[in-house]
Order: sequence, then C-alpha cells, then structure tokens
Amino acid sequence: MQAGSGNATEAIHQSAKIGSGVGMRKLGIGVLGVGDMGRRHAENVRRLVPEASLIAVADPAIERARQVAADLEIEHAFSSLEDMLAQRGIDGVIIAAPDKFHAQAIRTAASAGKDILSEKPLALNLADARAALDAVATAGVRLQVGFMRRYDPGYAAAMKRVEAGEIGQLRRQQAGIDAGQIDPHRLIE
Ligand SMILES: NC(=O)c1ccc[n+]([C@@H]2O[C@H](COP(=O)([O-])OP(=O)(O)OC[C@H]3O[C@@H](n4cnc5c(N)ncnc54)[C@H](O)[C@@H]3O)[C@@H](O)[C@H]2O)c1
Repeated sequence: MQAGSGNATEAIHQSAKIGSGVGMRKLGIGVLGVGDMGRRHAENVRRLVPEASLIAVADPAIERARQVAADLEIEHAFSSLEDMLAQRGIDGVIIAAPDKFHAQAIRTAASAGKDILSEKPLALNLADARAALDAVATAGVRLQVGFMRRYDPGYAAAMKRVEAGEIGQLRRQQAGIDAGQIDPHRLIE
C-alpha cells in the first residue's frame, strides 16, 4: 500500500505492482471491523484483487466475524486485532472499525510491522493523529487513509476540470451522495 488516499482495491493493486513477478507471494490481508464497510473491503479483497489473499477478519462481535469468514470461505475469524495480528501470513491490515478506534488500531498494527489501510478519519483529535503517524514512521510501515470518493469517476472528473482551470478559481465546493440509511451519529458513538 502507498501513502496517500484511496480504496483498498486500488491500494493493493498499487502495492502488488511494486512487487509483481512470477512466483511472487500474494499480499496477505486481515480486516478489522466487519460491519458495512469492513465486510465490503473483505469481499473486495477476497473476490476482486487477484494479487491479495484475505487471511482473516476480526471483530469484537465475534459471531459477525465468524459469519463473514464463513460467507467468504476463509478459515480465520478473531475477536481482536491483537489475535488477528498473531496469525501467520498477514502483511497488511484494513481498519474498518468505528472512527474512535482507528488511531489506536493503527498504532497496534504498525507496531506489529503491518502496512495499513484505515478507513477515514485517521483519528478524532490531533494528538491521537500525531501518535498514530509517529508509530507508522517508527515502524517504517505504509499507511493509507481511505478516501474512496477520490476514485469515483464523477469526483475524479470534477477534480480534473478544477485542475485544468476550466471553472476558474474554486472558492467553495459542495457535493452530495445518497447515503441511504446511514445514521451519522452511529459512526462517532
Ligand atoms: N459505511 C460507509 O458507507 C462508510 C463510508 C466511508 C467510511 N466509513 C468508515 O468505515 C468505518 C466503519 O463504518 P461502518 O459503516 O462499516 O460501521 P459499522 O457500524 O457497520 O461497522 C463497524 C464494525 O466495527 C466493529 N467494532 C466495534 N468496536 C470495534 C473495535 N474496538 N475494534 C474493531 N472493530 C470494532 C463493530 O462490531 C462493527 O462490526 C467508520 O470509520 C466509517 O467512518 C464508512
């Protein structure tokens, strides 16, 4: 995975390009938090990224983790990040836990030497964000924060037009997506 922002599929493709070649081992991925987003990440890694192998999922809701593991036909489901990190074969971790757990999970995964794709936000405050980035730098691992909208064709096209100066100087921009049934309070509780 590379520094920057994007989605898991893109990040893993990028990383695999760096180390692609005959006989290269697939990137082993573990997913932390398998609610709506984590399950989607796990499915993407399992079904859509030939360069990666979904090794394990983890969620304190262990029944959910077991169900996702069963649905995706993988062997390992854990109730904690620490237990998942002890599993052999994991090179990178996707963090899709609720926002308030991201910074600590990044520190834990970095300390274990894993590359990381974390759902946004990096942290809920500046001190935690700095601590997470320090842990990543100390460990020498790679961290990407997932801003997947940057890869949406509509958003990317808008950015190109801004960069090309087609609409003059941008002073304010507003974009919306259909967020369906998501309750925003749930994400920060
Ligand atoms: N759902 C979306 O469309 C969407 C889009 C962009 C970003 N995100 C981000 O993805 C993250 C997850 O969102 P979601 O919608 O999947 O939430 P969710 O509530 O559906 O899933 C969260 C999962 O994390 C688990 N969890 C709870 N505490 C945990 C902990 N301490 N460690 C690990 N896992 C824990 C829960 O059991 C649950 O399975 C959030 O940070 C959110 O901002 C979500």
